[in-house]
Amino acid sequence: MSESGRPPAGTALCRLEEIPDPGARGFDFREGDALWSGFLVLKDGILSAYEDTCPHAGSPIGDMIGRFLTREADYIICSAHGALFRIGDGACVAGPCAGRGLRPWPVEVVDGLVRTA
Ligand code: FES
Repeated sequence: MSESGRPPAGTALCRLEEIPDPGARGFDFREGDALWSGFLVLKDGILSAYEDTCPHAGSPIGDMIGRFLTREADYIICSAHGALFRIGDGACVAGPCAGRGLRPWPVEVVDGLVRTA
């Protein structure tokens, strides 16, 4: 693992079928004092992944119960101040960071296993 706690390429995350569609799942990694979090979103069979840090104030996107999406599962929503992000590309379309976007987290699916790329 790197100094930042971010997992290296090839780190197994979960099986694709463990993520509801539509749905999301967060992952936390620790290395010493360093914490790093990311999340996966599955919608209509398309997998997206982002670092769990909001471009507005740096808060986690997910809430305390691991919710990342709006009730209708049409946008990613920041738990801190409600910014909305497009699922497919992480662009912020409403809220205090409109025009900015989530940082992608490269992942791949190999034989049904989602892993970092
Ligand atoms: S930290 Fe996400 S909207 Fe403010």
